Amino acid sequence: MEINKEGATLKINNQEIKLDVLHDNVDITSIDISTLRAKTGILTYDPGFANTGSCQSSICFVDGEKGILRYRGYDIEDLVENCDFVEVAYLLIKEELPNKEQRLAYQDLLNKHSMLHTDMTLFFRGYPQRAHPMSILSAMVSSLSAFYPELDGDNPEDHLDLTVTRLLSKMRTIAAFTYRQSIGQDVVNPSYKYSYCENFLHMMFDSPVKNYTPDPKQVEALNKLLILHADHEQNCSTSAVRLVGSSAANLYASVSAGCCALWGKKHGGANQAVLEMLENIKEEGWSIDEIIAKAKNKNDDFRLSGFGHRVYKTYDPRAKIARKLCEDVLGDDAINDPLLNIALELEEKALKDPYFIEKNLYPNVDFYTGIIFHYMGIPSEMFTVMFALGRLPGWIAHYLEWNKDPYQKIGRPRQVYTGLNHRSVVPIDQR
Ligand code: ACO
Repeated sequence: MEINKEGATLKINNQEIKLDVLHDNVDITSIDISTLRAKTGILTYDPGFANTGSCQSSICFVDGEKGILRYRGYDIEDLVENCDFVEVAYLLIKEELPNKEQRLAYQDLLNKHSMLHTDMTLFFRGYPQRAHPMSILSAMVSSLSAFYPELDGDNPEDHLDLTVTRLLSKMRTIAAFTYRQSIGQDVVNPSYKYSYCENFLHMMFDSPVKNYTPDPKQVEALNKLLILHADHEQNCSTSAVRLVGSSAANLYASVSAGCCALWGKKHGGANQAVLEMLENIKEEGWSIDEIIAKAKNKNDDFRLSGFGHRVYKTYDPRAKIARKLCEDVLGDDAINDPLLNIALELEEKALKDPYFIEKNLYPNVDFYTGIIFHYMGIPSEMFTVMFALGRLPGWIAHYLEWNKDPYQKIGRPRQVYTGLNHRSVVPIDQR
């Protein structure tokens, strides 16, 4: 393979194939292989799509070697410091940060659409109390399309803006209601007097017998946590949203698929797995050395949850922010918090261990966020729901970008077939 200004030349089976080359805004070169099969009959093989760009996108930039994350050009550190979650959601979805008026108008609009249809609130009662909140969340998000079917009718693009607002607002309500269901308590409706994050905490924790007022420190922490999760380019759940959307499925159905993809413990389920791992270490009295040895053992499936990342080969910038946030939120309690102390020791020892050094395994976003959620009174089964709430604007932005993409095609990877070539059915009485 040769790459020069004219493109790439692939020499294969005595044939020279010319392929286009794309250069992105950060000097990464990509070879456009979309015509390769048509020209040669040859496929490319890339399990896990680790080397494949599936689209052109201007939403999020990740440099895994340098530990950089940007949304629409802004550093994650800048956004966490200077914006709230609604502003960042606006940025991802509408491409620019809002001014004051736009910000207030958006907040009002989100409040206006925050209620669920009464018939939908009845669904929650149908789930067993022990149901995993992600199973309820994904089903409820998909069910929204039954109540708001405009996107499946004529001119769906006329309704896209409203659908986006509904989804952003109602998914927060659904998330809080899944928690109320899990504790066997009536749902608490959103209130016009609260901001986006205040409203979520209000719906989670208010009670007829104990009035709850959102604590400004927790509201700030929640805003920052949601911003940290808001987008991460073509990760597993975002790719699921794009793939399902590429069949022309509606936004609700596509985001529901994103929720399902996020649920797994190799992805958004890792924050729950981290807390359970830390609690296990505490309860079973395991030493940090024993846990690290277990994670390194090839004959053991156990992995250090919250460590490693497909893209980051250095410290995940989100983990850095989350670690600091964790210490801030816990305040004076940080020094004696057993889970935080285990996490800090685990990180320190893992980062000095040759296995983790050679494989570039660093803490990822999930390593510290669970401790913060736990401290805020959010149970571990809800952690992935919290991740989903944060990732929602990113999913929406990618769905919208795909919709406008002039190169959009239904997602349909090929395969390397390893089955039998051909055989004939033997009649059932002769088998
Ligand atoms: N603990 C121990 N070993 C690990 C870990 C870990 N957390 N992560 C990766 N490794 C090892 C693998 O065993 C593998 O070793 P090998 O080359 O000897 O076979 C090597 O590192 C590479 O791992 P892969 O799974 O091939 O890397 P991949 O890029 O496919 O996976 C992933 C990345 C899924 C995040 C992985 O690091 C992992 O499972 N981590 C734990 C789960 C987790 O924290 N997930 C959250 C990710 S962040 C997010 O989704 C928001």
